[in-house]
Amino acid sequence: MSRELKFISVVGARPNFMKVAPLHRVFSRIESVRHLIVHTGQHYDANMSKIFFDDLDLPKPDIYLGVGSASHAEQTARVMIGFEKVLVEEKPDLVIVVGDVNSTVACSLTAAKLQVPVAHVEAGLRSFDRAMPEELNRIVTDALSDYLFVTEFAGVENLVHEGIHEERIFLVGDVMVDSLVMYRDRAKASGIKSVLDVTAGSYTLVTLHRPSNVDNEANLAKILEILERIEKYGRVIFPIHPRTRKRIEEFGLMDDFQSVKRLLLTDPLGYLDFMNLMMDARLVVTDSGGIQEETFFLNVPCLTLRDTTERPATVADGTNVLAGLDVEKVAGLTAECYEGKWKASKVPDILDGHAAERIAEVLMNSFGKKDAVMSGGNIKESNK
Ligand code: UD1
Repeated sequence: MSRELKFISVVGARPNFMKVAPLHRVFSRIESVRHLIVHTGQHYDANMSKIFFDDLDLPKPDIYLGVGSASHAEQTARVMIGFEKVLVEEKPDLVIVVGDVNSTVACSLTAAKLQVPVAHVEAGLRSFDRAMPEELNRIVTDALSDYLFVTEFAGVENLVHEGIHEERIFLVGDVMVDSLVMYRDRAKASGIKSVLDVTAGSYTLVTLHRPSNVDNEANLAKILEILERIEKYGRVIFPIHPRTRKRIEEFGLMDDFQSVKRLLLTDPLGYLDFMNLMMDARLVVTDSGGIQEETFFLNVPCLTLRDTTERPATVADGTNVLAGLDVEKVAGLTAECYEGKWKASKVPDILDGHAAERIAEVLMNSFGKKDAVMSGGNIKESNK
């Protein structure tokens, strides 16, 4: 029998878990692959990490590095030190990194230096804003990766423009949508709307955590003004990211946020509860990259409080509108949304829930295990 392949997938922060879950599901059905999950511990609170493992049926990570929070350099360095030991010990055939967080760049750099091949899932996205830490993480990770799995065509163009050989680039769709498709029914069954006492189509769901929005007082004050304006149209549910909560408290603005009458501040929510609220929101207001894509797929109106997006298809073909922190624009568009005026998504065929299978097919072909994969991208059931 031929040798087993060992693949390591890295998770670190909240937006990584729903991307690795479908990959893990596919690899666990391929006999010739041993798939390990390394959690760097960049996010460690139960509601930023453990709840996602439960909601997404992910097994406990095989290895936990426990790096925690720190400055960018320190956090990245701690991941690299921990991950280097893992690579030396485990000698994987491939490291799979997803998205654009500090753990993504740290592990791709560590692997590349040890000459372990790297696959980047969600490659090629560019906001062209180098003030975003994620943009730097994307550029470096892509430059170092051997396999670049892309979610939308603009990503292919960006990579080709940066001189990456076309043979390494694979347009496969979005693993995050795989999770949405897989868990949509379970999310529908969540009782979160009755817990929060809201009804479908009657509320705005808000998430904000980008440093450019929440790390300075003037912008947080603008966000407060935006919330005061949009609560007129419906209740506003705002699960607060730990970074945002910390800043609101530091700037002494918590009383002001709490005094917005129809604003409901909650702790961060799990995957299924959040998905449930997103599917039935009248409007989503966000600065997250992933949520722009999820609302695009779900055909839910999305107002992005940023000036740029790394996911242009969500604007060109989807429900997403970029509004920056322009209070008047956000208020005006919210009014339109509640009047029922919004563009609908034209969801591309490639967002079909099978991106992880396409990724596995590419990898198995490349590692000479073509027989592990059936045509059409479906993975043969192993005799586990
Ligand atoms: C990180 C990612 C960002 C992603 C976001 C999703 C980077 C550079 N940024 O940003 O791309 O969109 O995750 O959530 O990788 N904290 C806790 N508990 C936790 C995690 C964080 O309290 O479990 C607090 C700490 O005070 C920490 C702060 O949040 O300093 C920021 O965490 P960090 O991981 O540095 O960045 P995020 O803003 O979460």
